[in-house]
Amino acid sequence: MGTQGTGTEGTQKKHKKKESGFTGQIGFVMAAAGSAVGVGNLWRFPYLAAKDGGGLFIVIYMILALTFGFTLLTSDIAIGRRTGMNSIRAYASMSPKWKFLGIVTFLVPAIIMTYYAVIGGWITRYIVVYLAGEGKAAASGDFFTGFITDPKQSVIYAVVFMLLTAFIVFNGVEKGIEKCSTILMPVMMIMIIAIAVFALTLKNTDAQGVTRTGLQGLAVYLTPNLEGITIRRLMQVLLDAMSQIFFSLSVSMGIMITYGSYIKKDVNINSAVHQIEFFDCGVALLAGMMIIPSIFVFDGIEGMKAGPSLMFVSLPKVFNSMPTLGRFVGLAFFLMAGFAALTSCVSVLETITANCMEIFHLHRRNATILLTVLYTIASVIVALGYSLFYIELPLPNGSVAQILDLMDYISNSFMMPFISFLSSILIGWVVGPDWIVEEVEYGGVTFSLKGLYRFMIRYVVPVIMFILFLQSTGILG
Ligand code: PFF
Repeated sequence: MGTQGTGTEGTQKKHKKKESGFTGQIGFVMAAAGSAVGVGNLWRFPYLAAKDGGGLFIVIYMILALTFGFTLLTSDIAIGRRTGMNSIRAYASMSPKWKFLGIVTFLVPAIIMTYYAVIGGWITRYIVVYLAGEGKAAASGDFFTGFITDPKQSVIYAVVFMLLTAFIVFNGVEKGIEKCSTILMPVMMIMIIAIAVFALTLKNTDAQGVTRTGLQGLAVYLTPNLEGITIRRLMQVLLDAMSQIFFSLSVSMGIMITYGSYIKKDVNINSAVHQIEFFDCGVALLAGMMIIPSIFVFDGIEGMKAGPSLMFVSLPKVFNSMPTLGRFVGLAFFLMAGFAALTSCVSVLETITANCMEIFHLHRRNATILLTVLYTIASVIVALGYSLFYIELPLPNGSVAQILDLMDYISNSFMMPFISFLSSILIGWVVGPDWIVEEVEYGGVTFSLKGLYRFMIRYVVPVIMFILFLQSTGILG
């Protein structure tokens, strides 16, 4: 038996009072993996891998996921289950002086929600394009820009995606979130495996008579490229991988605290964390396996340097180059991306809703309706950030932002390392790592990497997060 103090018994009582929760470990893992697996895996991971030396990035990412990702994910879920509360009140209950950290953590999903439905709307637009058989038009270089700069279209699709998300959250944890995740996640996995296998069978001969195959593309993707590697370059790869971990695992933003607060005491947090990581890393790897070889076959190594435009600009070109099957593969790809984005967007709105229900004593339905109105307005403003409200704002990291990029920068690059830094200090040095360890070991569960957890949360996470934070502010070049 784990040795739980009275604080936890009180927590258990509060837990019973919760309006609803996940039915068991599978429902929880599906919902948490649904949150983790999103556009980060499908769009960001492949382009970072292409940019950062293929296999080199993959190896570094996997190592960081098993160390940092594991530590941050375990902490969030255990905080949620032990306190039975959402971020704002959970941190205050751990230590009253740290209430501010709960509020800061709450702000991350509150900001992300302003733009996530807009990205979901972009994906929905492409689903409609391939359904209507307009893949050829989507392959033209300025289709994407044309779409996002069209005020009417970009707003309509963002609002549709927002309402879909709200509908699921409105239906509650078990009947809304768990149900949609347990259906969509397995379907998504099957689709991504099928498309990845298909990508490996591709073959194309270009105008110069050079033939490239999917398997060659796979080799390019997986082989660590150490050409011209310097310490500085290695640092950049490390930082890219690290910031990808936060975003990808949905940690340090209160989401996993909220989901953790919905699980019962018989869920094994130790194995759940490994299962969520397995899903997240698996989908990221498969996404690369599907995107990089496809681009390589039709556009060669040069095509892989497209960066962020890989998904919305390069891929439609690839689908268009595929004889006959392109339309269906395009549809399957964007449908799958839509499912991934939807389960992630749901987790963001759920976290905000749950915090508001707790703080303002609102019923779920009222809270959801209120937040839907607010975030529909916010999504409209962000969607119009490429037309009516176009701005060019220089950021401390040297890039130029529109409204969406600004929101993304504030929440992900700036706030998340800051929150991880502070929460590792709170857990590692104020309440002590055993506060988390006890929760994971509750009911006699073996916490397999307990030693690693303690070491990471006390020494490694604070230092690295601080460096990451300085880098995002531009203080470290
Ligand atoms: N983890 C999701 C992804 O990899 O796409 C993204 C995400 C979901 C980020 C939820 C933030 C969030 F609040």
